[in-house]
Amino acid sequence: MILVTGATGTVGREVVGLLVAGGHKTRVLVRDPARARFDKKVEVAVGDLDKPDTLARAAEGAERVFALASGPQLAAQQGSLAQAAKRAGAKHIVKLSVLGVDSGLKNAIVEWHTDAEKRLRESGLAWTFVQPGSFMSNSFAWIDMVKTQGKVYAPYGDGKFPPIHPRDIAAVCVKALTTPGHEGKAYPLTGPEALGMAEQVRILSEAIGKPLQYVPVPDEAARDGMLKTGMPPVLVEALLQMAGWVRAGKMAQVRPTVEEVTGKRPLSYRDWARENAAAFK
Ligand SMILES: NC(=O)c1ccc[n+]([C@@H]2O[C@H](COP(=O)([O-])OP(=O)(O)OC[C@H]3O[C@@H](n4cnc5c(N)ncnc54)[C@H](OP(=O)(O)O)[C@@H]3O)[C@@H](O)[C@H]2O)c1
Repeated sequence: MILVTGATGTVGREVVGLLVAGGHKTRVLVRDPARARFDKKVEVAVGDLDKPDTLARAAEGAERVFALASGPQLAAQQGSLAQAAKRAGAKHIVKLSVLGVDSGLKNAIVEWHTDAEKRLRESGLAWTFVQPGSFMSNSFAWIDMVKTQGKVYAPYGDGKFPPIHPRDIAAVCVKALTTPGHEGKAYPLTGPEALGMAEQVRILSEAIGKPLQYVPVPDEAARDGMLKTGMPPVLVEALLQMAGWVRAGKMAQVRPTVEEVTGKRPLSYRDWARENAAAFK
């Protein structure tokens, strides 16, 4: 049985879908069972990564674990998860991490994941780290601007980066969870092409059938905008640092890893935009 954490989120939902489609016995850890709308074959365990004593029962009988967590507590959360999994007799943990761990580029998000990777290495479980760059689904943050102004404001200048479809991230995670040979490996992942914001906005505009304009903004304006949405300041600063790396051309490298691991070409931003166009209309 495979235990999936973060199962109600962007990547976790896709992981569960692929595991069920592949006929793998799957259990999800959820905080709120009312939000657990999964295939009826999926077993639901109620628990909270912030409450280590709720994890033992969830981990009982799990052979492999998918670890996903966010925010400043993620290393402690995933450390507790790994300990519970180890005690329950699990063999392998596959962690959703972030691109940049090991690269020398440091911000708070990279540091949280670096710390978590260290804890998993020390856990005694076999591990695989899946390290994606920016998700294509981050474009959902533009919905209000697109609907109300037909403009997308962002602090990336003319810098390029290769966003990745969450389903491709999930496909790599599921390969690592269900086929041999991924233990002790880290997989830095990107989408298939580096795109500037102007190109992403043009592709989205074609997909939704409405003219859109990319408006580059300075960090100060982006900071104000993100803080107004209630985003925690530490996350805002980390995202601004990443925007600086993008502007400096440090995030443009395309990685071949999705195809190497899954045997399939990664989905394009155009694929993502067509699939999700309705959300922007
Ligand atoms: N966005 C990007 O561009 C990007 C790029 C690289 C890496 N990442 C990494 O990807 C991860 C986020 O993935 P995502 O976007 O798929 O996540 P997400 O959609 O934000 O979902 C977060 C999941 O974690 C669960 N969760 C939160 N707190 C929990 C707790 N205390 N106990 C149990 N479950 C808890 C949530 O469950 P509830 O339903 O209970 O809320 C939800 O299922 C982060 O580690 C981030 O650093 C993101």
